[in-house]
Amino acid sequence: MEIAVDTTIKLIQGLELKNPVMNASGTFAYGEECSEIFDLSIMGGIITKGLSLLPNKGNPPPRIVETPCGLINAIGLENIGVDAFLKDKLQFLMQFKTPIIVNFFGSYEEEYVECARRLSIEGVAALEMNVSCPNIKSGGIQFGTDPHTLYALVRKVRDVTTKPLIVKLSPLAGDIAEMAFSAQDAGADAITCINTIPAMAIDEETWRPTLGNITGGLSGPAIKPIALRTVWEASHKVDIPVIGCGGISSSADVIQFMLAGASAVEIGSFSLREPFCFPDIINGLTQYMGRHSIDTIQDVIGRLKL
Ligand SMILES: Cc1cc2nc3c(=O)[nH]c(=O)nc-3n(C[C@H](O)[C@H](O)[C@H](O)COP(=O)(O)O)c2cc1C
Repeated sequence: MEIAVDTTIKLIQGLELKNPVMNASGTFAYGEECSEIFDLSIMGGIITKGLSLLPNKGNPPPRIVETPCGLINAIGLENIGVDAFLKDKLQFLMQFKTPIIVNFFGSYEEEYVECARRLSIEGVAALEMNVSCPNIKSGGIQFGTDPHTLYALVRKVRDVTTKPLIVKLSPLAGDIAEMAFSAQDAGADAITCINTIPAMAIDEETWRPTLGNITGGLSGPAIKPIALRTVWEASHKVDIPVIGCGGISSSADVIQFMLAGASAVEIGSFSLREPFCFPDIINGLTQYMGRHSIDTIQDVIGRLKL
């Protein structure tokens, strides 16, 4: 039965989501594969694989290992590069009736700036800036753990784009609330909490690391409680919206993140196993709202009872 509830989220001025559920960057590529199994227009938003200025071939294999409680990946941000994305992928994504959010990163400040400049075109609804990848040697996380470095970087990117700018943070930041505040101060429109957490797996038969890169980033159920805590802390420090990410696999998880203060969520690892989780979780949210007599989902955000 169709339940009439309002699932829209006014995330940022000019960026409204039909529901709070998006994919996380890197587990959805550029949307083509999932578009063959369900209509991507149902998504609250689509977030692309992280793009760099030039194509990047990533780390040597093996690049993903399963653990009892999630994945460790060391993809190393393999991607086709900004220009190939604009030429070959954006048009395809624009057919879906949902905002396209482009995730990007750089190895140095000017690369971030140039990516943001080139990506600031029609069809791109917002930019998500990854300052939190543990799997590349330079760039990524080095920007995401010091508030002054982060402030300077976000300021530079802010200067070249009027697109809504989302900054994706690392749980490694000593004080995630302080990092979120720096990003807000520098002009970010929203924060995503969190990226993966550095981790390792070893093959005791060969005595070798399981991943080609030796270490990687842990995602999935293991990091959910950490992600939830960062959302809670960040959302109490900043006025801009916080997007929750980490181990989400059900509509119950989405509600928990929203109660902690998330205005929207991103689902990564779980969708690799269950690509249909998006329609299921979106439907589950509607059912939950019906069961709890919640007319508009915005009313759940930050409403944790203490
Ligand atoms: C295979 C894989 C690739 C990823 N690639 C990116 C990326 O390109 N950019 C980014 O910001 N995060 C990337 N991430 C991190 C996810 O977007 C997300 O922050 C993290 O996996 C936690 O969410 P989850 O537990 O739902 O997977 C990647 C994660 C995985 C598992």
